[in-house]
Amino acid sequence: MSNQNIYDNEIFFAGYSELRSREINSNTMLEQPAMKELLPDLNGKAVLDLGCGCGSNCLEFVLNGAKRVVGVDISEKMLEVAKKEATDEKIEYKNMSMTDISTLDEKFDLIYSSLAFHYIEDFAKLCEDMYALLNENGTLLFSQEHPLITATVDGNGHYNKDENGRKISYTFSNYNEPGERYVHWYVDGVRKYHRTFSDTINALAKANFKIEEVCEPKPQSWAMEKWPALYDEYIKPSFLIVKARKV
Ligand SMILES: C[S@@+](CC[C@H](N)C(=O)[O-])C[C@H]1O[C@@H](n2cnc3c(N)ncnc32)[C@H](O)[C@@H]1O
Repeated sequence: MSNQNIYDNEIFFAGYSELRSREINSNTMLEQPAMKELLPDLNGKAVLDLGCGCGSNCLEFVLNGAKRVVGVDISEKMLEVAKKEATDEKIEYKNMSMTDISTLDEKFDLIYSSLAFHYIEDFAKLCEDMYALLNENGTLLFSQEHPLITATVDGNGHYNKDENGRKISYTFSNYNEPGERYVHWYVDGVRKYHRTFSDTINALAKANFKIEEVCEPKPQSWAMEKWPALYDEYIKPSFLIVKARKV
């Protein structure tokens, strides 16, 4: 199936941009802090950011000492913002799908991806392509929506509440039925792919990656003080983060 480019949809782009401009969202409060803790030393390193969006992470890699950063994204609109707001001579943005990265003609020390892999159908192929692009000892660090979130076929699990309206559990289904899911997120028909936890880990292992750390981020106390809704993360995690190495 061809790749969907939903971030170039006007309505979607406006909604997503508004969400990301808020000081408090699940990226700033939960996913990014966990990813930062797992980042390797970037001094003098070459980095590939898959689904780089508006480029904020690319710029941060340069500020942390990276010598070269390639940011890949399928969305022209996201890259337009990146080229305005996150520009540096060490960064090159490429408007392409990450399903085509085998055409890239250079190697990297870190392949990074924040919240983009759940848009990719053939994760096993992506793992092989990434392995080939990494230098020996190179690191893969990615986050994606947690399989408990992507599982339910109508795209939405739901919380169950007690008599006081307090969330106490989360219902999901279709976990062991991997494949495409269509959800409403600003617009109808946003396509994602559900993979089980084991399918994800096995694809990495079969591509020869050594898994170094798996993280289902729990909120830190500073974040919960700012945003008490993060208590929901103790009922079920929103994100899955994996750090792996080419050995
Ligand atoms: C949730 S956004 C995350 C953006 C950025 N990584 C960040 O954390 O700010 C997901 C990004 O993945 C991109 N994307 C989705 N499918 C893609 C594909 N097949 N190839 C490259 N980028 C893709 C989208 O255009 C979007 O910019």
